[in-house]
Amino acid sequence: MMANKVHYPSLAALKNVEIVAISDLDAQKMKDTADCYGIVNRYQDYRSMLDQQRLDGVYVIMQPQYMYDIVRDCLSRRLHVFCEKPLGLTLHQAETLSRLARQAGVVTQVGHQRRSSPILNVLLNACKKGGSVNHAVCEFYKCDMSAMELAADHMHDDCSHSIDTLRWICGGEVVRVEARFKRINTPDINWVHATLEFDNGATGVLINSWASGRRVFRVSIHSPGACADVELENKAFLYENGDYAGVEYDCKQVVNSDEFYVYGGFVEKSREFVDSIESGACQVSSPFEDVVKTMRVLETIVAQSILTDGIGGYDR
Ligand SMILES: NC(=O)c1ccc[n+]([C@@H]2O[C@H](COP(=O)([O-])OP(=O)(O)OC[C@H]3O[C@@H](n4cnc5c(N)ncnc54)[C@H](O)[C@@H]3O)[C@@H](O)[C@H]2O)c1
Repeated sequence: MMANKVHYPSLAALKNVEIVAISDLDAQKMKDTADCYGIVNRYQDYRSMLDQQRLDGVYVIMQPQYMYDIVRDCLSRRLHVFCEKPLGLTLHQAETLSRLARQAGVVTQVGHQRRSSPILNVLLNACKKGGSVNHAVCEFYKCDMSAMELAADHMHDDCSHSIDTLRWICGGEVVRVEARFKRINTPDINWVHATLEFDNGATGVLINSWASGRRVFRVSIHSPGACADVELENKAFLYENGDYAGVEYDCKQVVNSDEFYVYGGFVEKSREFVDSIESGACQVSSPFEDVVKTMRVLETIVAQSILTDGIGGYDR
């Protein structure tokens, strides 16, 4: 889904990329995508692909419960790796992959595309002109009240984006986390509110709910004399020095494209990865060694949810 929606289109749009091989266990899915992008070399066993092809980098795009061993195999062969979020299902997985990547000396990138969101960065830079960000709010809502049955819970799945985006906006390191949880018509947690305190004095507030009326990813950014309200896949407004009207921005106009993989920040994420490999100078915004910090905050929030229920547990 994600590979076809954003990653193949992004790579196909970059001039310094050749997609030389593809692997999928599902033969029909592999054929459809390979035919679409004219990829000749096709493998159901990814290890054969790694053995037989001369690759610079590998995109490992799949559900997180299958990802760890494959990323580890790529790192052991000193291949540059792009993978999707979350960077593993446990802190151990994230920390180990980060360490192995450092030892291999390769470029890594995790698909936290909001760091590369064109509209977010335009508004963030405008706010920073008056001074550093003192507080930011990240809201991520969906209308989906079914119990989460995928391997990743809601916190590892969507909440990782909110944490990572607040870290990007606020800068500095997270030094304190305080979280609250709800289960709204579901047995599992589907509402999370957390306050993140940063060592630079900034405060990040996240609120994620899957029991809302529609999907939206929205941030507000506050700095001395400026604030911005940004819906990353829609409109944004910049307000300065008490102005109420604000200046309007549109995510598609900012990049002059209607393509989601462009205005969503995905092609930029891939460009950073590919250019880093080509130039040897690391320009990625989400290397494993940084995303580990997002995972530490995430696992702290998960730990607080366990403490909220009590060690005796919460059986529904
Ligand atoms: N960045 C974002 O905004 C965003 C949004 C949604 C999902 N995601 C992430 O994207 C990732 C992929 O999700 P998806 O919904 O696209 O997955 P998907 O299930 O649609 O696709 C995964 C593919 O991997 C293949 N596969 C599994 N094991 C394999 C193996 N050993 N060798 C070769 N192929 C194998 C499957 O056959 C399948 O075609 C997840 O980690 C998810 O968290 C990110």
